[in-house]
Amino acid sequence: MLSQYLYISTAPTLPREEVEAILSASAQNNPVRGITGLLLFNGRNFLQLLEGEESEVAALMDTITADPRHSGVSVLDRRGIDQRACPDWAMKRVMIAESIASRREMLEQELPDNLDPDVRKMIVNFAVLN
Ligand SMILES: Cc1cc2nc3c(=O)[nH]c(=O)nc-3n(C[C@H](O)[C@H](O)[C@H](O)COP(=O)(O)O)c2cc1C
Repeated sequence: MLSQYLYISTAPTLPREEVEAILSASAQNNPVRGITGLLLFNGRNFLQLLEGEESEVAALMDTITADPRHSGVSVLDRRGIDQRACPDWAMKRVMIAESIASRREMLEQELPDNLDPDVRKMIVNFAVLN
């Protein structure tokens, strides 16, 4: 069964290059595990969407939750899915525009079409926070 998890977490003093390190680990590991998704970092908080076989995503969630580079992992949504929203993304970094005015518009372009409207709303709401 395919599952999709959406969570947020806190990393207020994480150096930017750690985000790069997380993305390279993801690029290496996720294809092997059949995991796809997207990652946003606003300088203080992460939001990540993870999808794949339930057993793989649950195991990765355990690994990620134990990662000392962030804390306060809280799952916003967890659902079974028929199709992946991000089939082509081992872990896509979604950039948050500097200007609040253009954030929504930029996100609408970057986020995949095949996202449940409620999930999309949670991601957009996160991205427009300061
Ligand atoms: C916010 C956040 C997101 C992460 N996402 C992933 C991920 O999608 N895939 C992954 O393999 N590791 C991810 N990690 C890193 C894992 O916690 C862990 O460090 C890594 O899987 C270990 O991989 P390695 O054994 O190849 O070094 C993430 C870490 C953080 C803090």
